[in-house]
Amino acid sequence: MAAHKDQSRKLTVLICIIVLYFQFPVASLVHYEPTWDSLDSRPLPSWYDEAKIGIFIHWGVFSVPSFASEWFWWYWKGQPLQKVVEYMKNNYPPDFTYADFAPKFTAEFYNPDQWVDLFNASGARYIVLITKHHEGFTNWPSNHSFNWNAMDVGPKMDLVGMLANSIRKRTNIKLGLYHSLFEWFNPLFLQDQANKFATNYFVTSKTMPELYELVNTYKPDIIWSDGGDGALDTYWNSKEFLAWLYNDSPVKDTVVTNDRWGTNCGCKHGGYLTCKDRYNPGKLQQRKWENAMTLDRSSWGYRREATLNDFLTIEELITLIVETVSCGGNILINVGPTKDGRITPIYEERLRQMGQWLKVNGEAIYKTKPWTSQNDTVAPNVWYTSKKSETGTRVYAFVLKWPETDILYLGSPSPSSLTRVTLLGYPSPIPWRIPASQPSGIELLIPVISVNAIPCQWAWVFTMENLAN
Ligand SMILES: *[C@@H]1O[C@H](CO)[C@@H](O)[C@H](O)[C@H]1NC(C)=O
Ligand SMILES: *[C@@H]1O[C@H](CO)[C@@H](O)[C@H](O)[C@H]1NC(C)=O
Ligand SMILES: *[C@@H]1O[C@H](CO)[C@@H](O)[C@H](O)[C@H]1NC(C)=O
Repeated sequence: MAAHKDQSRKLTVLICIIVLYFQFPVASLVHYEPTWDSLDSRPLPSWYDEAKIGIFIHWGVFSVPSFASEWFWWYWKGQPLQKVVEYMKNNYPPDFTYADFAPKFTAEFYNPDQWVDLFNASGARYIVLITKHHEGFTNWPSNHSFNWNAMDVGPKMDLVGMLANSIRKRTNIKLGLYHSLFEWFNPLFLQDQANKFATNYFVTSKTMPELYELVNTYKPDIIWSDGGDGALDTYWNSKEFLAWLYNDSPVKDTVVTNDRWGTNCGCKHGGYLTCKDRYNPGKLQQRKWENAMTLDRSSWGYRREATLNDFLTIEELITLIVETVSCGGNILINVGPTKDGRITPIYEERLRQMGQWLKVNGEAIYKTKPWTSQNDTVAPNVWYTSKKSETGTRVYAFVLKWPETDILYLGSPSPSSLTRVTLLGYPSPIPWRIPASQPSGIELLIPVISVNAIPCQWAWVFTMENLAN
């Protein structure tokens, strides 16, 4: 009897294992090898494509001079730019070093809850915070960055941990961490470079220990790698790190990465593709990609000399969002906080405007897929996304400029007798007809809309259901 019971228990366990295997085949049973064939075969966790919009935050010691760009140190001592050299000559004593800026990184107004509430109000679904830029200063108390981190000098706080805690306590926004593989002036890196990267002292003692520390401590949803362009992935040990990240790390099933893992990786290997800064190809891409761009046209770090014209208008920002999402991309919108921890009102205004717009039109952005056409074949400034439901496909047409006439002719959609058109944020259906003088397409008959019934101020979205295509 006892033996029989034991056997049937074994059988139950076996059945459970089989059932579990077929219900959850992806997560735990796939093992990735440190080869690009294997690593590139990992499906991107679905939350990332659904999120569409993220906020990039460039913050570091470069936020202290806050002049020219976050490459300030390089433009002073690496490949000098005249305006940076002169700025230093005119404003600082001759013996002043870049390290002397760090104590002035005070962050006294840093209020992570306030930042998080602003990001949340913007409609962004993830953020990517700089944890270490090419200057090497870590915004967290790293055990691998002695005296060049935010706990030992400057803020005297764990800037990364504070934001991580706040974002997880208050919202569902995902936390991404940016990390630069290389450091302009790190003596160990320079030594490896002088050895033509035949040695990798810097990688094994600095950059990789930092990455493991970041993942184990903050359990990020994204590792946004940068600065790998000087050397091959084999120098950086990128593939070994990614295999650990995908197989054994505490975020192995949810983490997303990008493609900047070495000279031979950009636009080719890794998680999603970032290719180059402000990448916006304008046509559908085979792989998931991201447009990492800036609200200040010429800098990622805060720049005190920037003027209003240097910032994208909300119309320009929405155009980029729409073009990017229509072509299958995510957009990562950069803000540069000040050395004392403020996100200045011009950035705040853009983010809140974006949030207002997404409140009305978010349905056409989040969780959408590219449609058959990305932009209209005839009408300029019209872009498409789509979403499947039980009742069929809903197509979204973003009209970036309000039509000048009361008939909007679209070339891409083919109506059927059941086609229904609406305008997001507007209560009544939009009448339409088959064009009399065109072989295909649809004519939307735009109603007169009173000022207080206009659904939003920028870029309107028509929805179309039951199309023939
Ligand atoms: C985040 O935004 C959503 C949607 O606008 C809102 O309902 C929620 O209250 C916000 N949460 C915080 C913490 O601001
Ligand atoms: C640094 O090392 C100490 C002592 O081993 C440890 O308690 C701490 O958690 C480490 N810090 C990080 C960020 O890993
Ligand atoms: C559609 O977008 C492409 C790429 O931006 C552009 O070259 C083309 O002119 C656009 N079509 C129309 C009708 O505007």
